[in-house]
Amino acid sequence: MKHEPRTWSLAEMPDLAGRTAVVTGPTSGLGTATARELARAGARVVLAGRSPEKLQATASDITAAVPGADLERLVVDLASLASVRTAAGAAARLGPIDLLVNNAGVMATRARRTEDGLDLQMATNHFGHFLLTGLLWPQLVAEGGGRVVSVSSFMHTRARSAPSTTRARHRAATPAGASTRRRSSPTCSSPTSCSAAPRPRALR
Ligand SMILES: NC(=O)c1ccc[n+]([C@@H]2O[C@H](COP(=O)([O-])OP(=O)(O)OC[C@H]3O[C@@H](n4cnc5c(N)ncnc54)[C@H](OP(=O)(O)O)[C@@H]3O)[C@@H](O)[C@H]2O)c1
Repeated sequence: MKHEPRTWSLAEMPDLAGRTAVVTGPTSGLGTATARELARAGARVVLAGRSPEKLQATASDITAAVPGADLERLVVDLASLASVRTAAGAAARLGPIDLLVNNAGVMATRARRTEDGLDLQMATNHFGHFLLTGLLWPQLVAEGGGRVVSVSSFMHTRARSAPSTTRARHRAATPAGASTRRRSSPTCSSPTSCSAAPRPRALR
């Protein structure tokens, strides 16, 4: 699909008083700016990150920029399905959620498997968010107007085939000496149900 950039400015942001927004990866980059500007527009912003210390520092920075910002913190390591489940349980206290910004991400990491047996980058950027979205779904639809924003990259437009179908690329992404056979990408039929061949631990 052709990438059609559209300009947008903060001036177009509506008043968000009374709204709740969850932002993953708020401790740097786009996530910090997103959380700060949502708070400036009046939203209650839930800072969802893996480091309590960084969340504290980010909350302080945002409060310095937006005095009176309504901030909450939610600890979640998106590379751990167990952590996502724990965080989603803790998020029940938030009530209805109007906006979930799935922003956290890592890129071009060295080949590494998570505790669930997933590729680290796919686990962080995709599967963790997929599970989080599914578990928060009842709160997102509670008032009929919830939105989910997935921050991504237009780099996917350069892909000519799915990674798992390209043998050479697949080998390059696998640690030296490790078998590349039977390592297909996990598939998810619903936000809370994923499987793979071989099936990763705990992904169901
Ligand atoms: N910047 C770009 O040019 C660009 C281009 C295309 C797409 N993107 C996408 O835009 C998003 C934000 O990019 P950025 O450049 O702002 O990123 P960034 O500055 O590197 O920040 C990434 C955020 O993700 C968090 N994170 C990483 N692993 C995590 C995990 N396992 N659990 C929870 N949080 C985790 C980091 O938390 P810690 O502080 O704890 O590490 C940090 O808050 C990403 O999804 C990225 O793929 C960015």
